[in-house]
Amino acid sequence: MKSPRIILFGPPGAGKGTQAQLLKEQLGVHHISSGDLFRFHLREGTLLGQRVNYYVNAGLLVPDELTIDIVLDKVLDLPLEDGFLLDGFPRTEEQALALEKALGEKSRELDQVIFIDVPEDELVLRLGGRYICRECQAPHTVSEPSQAAAGCQQCGGELYQREDDSPESVAKRINVYQDQTLPVLDFYRQRGLLTGVPGVGAVDSINRLMLQALGRDG
Ligand code: AP5
Ligand code: MG
Repeated sequence: MKSPRIILFGPPGAGKGTQAQLLKEQLGVHHISSGDLFRFHLREGTLLGQRVNYYVNAGLLVPDELTIDIVLDKVLDLPLEDGFLLDGFPRTEEQALALEKALGEKSRELDQVIFIDVPEDELVLRLGGRYICRECQAPHTVSEPSQAAAGCQQCGGELYQREDDSPESVAKRINVYQDQTLPVLDFYRQRGLLTGVPGVGAVDSINRLMLQALGRDG
């Protein structure tokens, strides 16, 4: 079966990263997360990291001119026949157009855009309790901060809280998503690529729904 090219679309906290960790193994595709890329540059203190620091920590979108090239470079570096999961990109119509153009120039096309639908109150709850592994980036839900000391369930790495998961930044990110990113759904709806999946419930159940939506009844 062909290796698919997929966008995971959804609000902050929808479970894009969580589902991507499962799907990349199940589908044998690469996972490219724009947020993880920025956080890598922040950790390493690169010039790009210094330029995006303010936007990421405040919960604002990084300007397109700093975002598009770094993500497209990763996508275009992949062998032609390899599939990918894009997580967190595109978030503006300019980014969606740039991706379409870049793939078209290599005679590649997107196969599907999966929209993970989660209500706002659930997003706020999830992001407030999220801890991330410093090693493998896997997100975890922690109800008591002391639970984070146990480390990553997947690789044992240290868990930390993202600076943009403060209540102020979460509120900002949800507003930014509604104003600037949600309109991108129409772009893909018009191209007949969009499939919605409800994102509330057990992670495994949502994963099964996603596999069904992708035509892989795992
Ligand atoms: P990014 O890292 O993409 O953050 P985001 O979109 O805000 O999404 P999150 O990573 O917060 O949520 P997620 O959907 O991955 O959910 P997760 O699986 O972790 O972007 C960060 C910043 O970078 C942006 O604000 C912006 O500044 C910049 N940026 C990135 N891309 C950009 C772009 N294209 N253009 C411009 N700027 C850009 O799950 C969340 C929590 O819920 C976890 O604790 C998880 O364990 C839990 N959870 C998951 N599924 C379930 C479930 N089914 N039930 C209960 N809990 C669950
Ligand atoms: Mg994420």
